[in-house]
Amino acid sequence: MTTPRSTLPRPFRRRTATVATLAVAALLAAVPATSATARDRAPDAPQALAAPDIPLANVKAHLTQFQSIATANGGNRAHGRPGYKASLDYVRAKLDAAGFTTTVQQFTSSGATGYNLIADWPGGDPNQVLMAGAHLDSVSSGPGINDNGSGSAAVLETALAVSRAQLQPTKHLRFAWWGAEELGLVGSKYYVNSLATGDRSRIAGYINLDMVGSPNPGYFVYDDDPAIEKVFKDWYAGIGVPTEIETEGDGRSDHASFKNAGIPVGGLFTGASRTKTAAQATKWGGTAGQAFDRCYHSSCDTTTNINDTALDRNSDALAHAVWTLGTTTSTPPGSTYENTTDVAVPDNGAAVTSTVSVTDRAGNAPATLQVGVDIKHTWRGDLVVDLLAPDGTAYRLKNSSSSDSADNVIATYTVNASAEPANGAWRLRVQDVAAQDTGYIDSWKLTF
Ligand code: TRP
Ligand code: ZN
Ligand code: CA
Repeated sequence: MTTPRSTLPRPFRRRTATVATLAVAALLAAVPATSATARDRAPDAPQALAAPDIPLANVKAHLTQFQSIATANGGNRAHGRPGYKASLDYVRAKLDAAGFTTTVQQFTSSGATGYNLIADWPGGDPNQVLMAGAHLDSVSSGPGINDNGSGSAAVLETALAVSRAQLQPTKHLRFAWWGAEELGLVGSKYYVNSLATGDRSRIAGYINLDMVGSPNPGYFVYDDDPAIEKVFKDWYAGIGVPTEIETEGDGRSDHASFKNAGIPVGGLFTGASRTKTAAQATKWGGTAGQAFDRCYHSSCDTTTNINDTALDRNSDALAHAVWTLGTTTSTPPGSTYENTTDVAVPDNGAAVTSTVSVTDRAGNAPATLQVGVDIKHTWRGDLVVDLLAPDGTAYRLKNSSSSDSADNVIATYTVNASAEPANGAWRLRVQDVAAQDTGYIDSWKLTF
């Protein structure tokens, strides 16, 4: 037998409204490269060091070297040809001189020996490895300066900038140049397959640059790992350049080898043989109705086949991503975000919401997100309560029940929110679905 519902509502205590006190920690602050390193800062300060500008002239000097190597070796830098190994030796010498630990990994493809170059920057958490890479081989029909001298040079110059800054990242940084991409991602597949299972799961992310200086450029960001994608999109938004999601063949470069192994990936691309539309030319400049790279896989993919602005931007964007993702100290578990402003819940009426904004966390929300709810109500069985993720996904916290006659919903719910990026506007949604008793959201909070 259920408790009969009182016909006289109990006195309704309406709290005086309080000023919203969103317990949100400081926003990501840019810290000069000369200041304290990430590990010196207070543990609750989620910050990343600011990346240096990558000098375009340095990136272009690497392209000049790749061009000379191709010219001296039959016009290409292809797998199994001497121009490939000469390119690798050039990149390796720069990295060795800058203090990297370099490793050359050999494999065989189409009857020829192929080589990957791996460069580790000493330090950082070995259980959180951040990688950036580019394929170093060209097709045999040309010198491959945009495809992919551009990505190779941007990754090289970013690595050299890490050395110049003597960066002390929180994550371990690893840079890679792949062989035989043009034969079907052979080198990167070989690398991923040769990783021990434990080492695969230690790779926090892989960033790929393949064709980042196309002469009629588009600004494309891979739509894969949300954290990597956001860092690139935010960087481009900061300089006022619109981006689009990369769609010219997902899986057509080395990030696919990592993605297939369950490793988070991202990357940048300025377009290959696809045609730039009129709308794209309007927002990016360049020539509508013409390919992003008319010399794709051709002998004319030389140093003149490069758009300097695109190469410069993508080099700077990569450095920004390496600095941001590699030096961030994530906010420690246990931080709480709260909204204490009262929200009246109309009797047997429409749902209401209360918002908590989260801006300072890296990655996704935890599998054990704690949702602390304090709803004052004279008949809690009237209430349906949901947590809404920033993208609107609803997580049911409590159903209505005509037999649940107690007062108030004062409870902490555990939600598996690991599919949701942590940052954004989270909402508590409360609906009163039965007439007579009423109440209000007193406060609620999220504990990450
Ligand atoms: N090297 C790549 C290829 O020949 C170029 C490419 C085409 C690409 N589409 C892409 C690279 C999409 C990155 C993303 O296929
Ligand atoms: Zn390529
Ligand atoms: Ca009611």
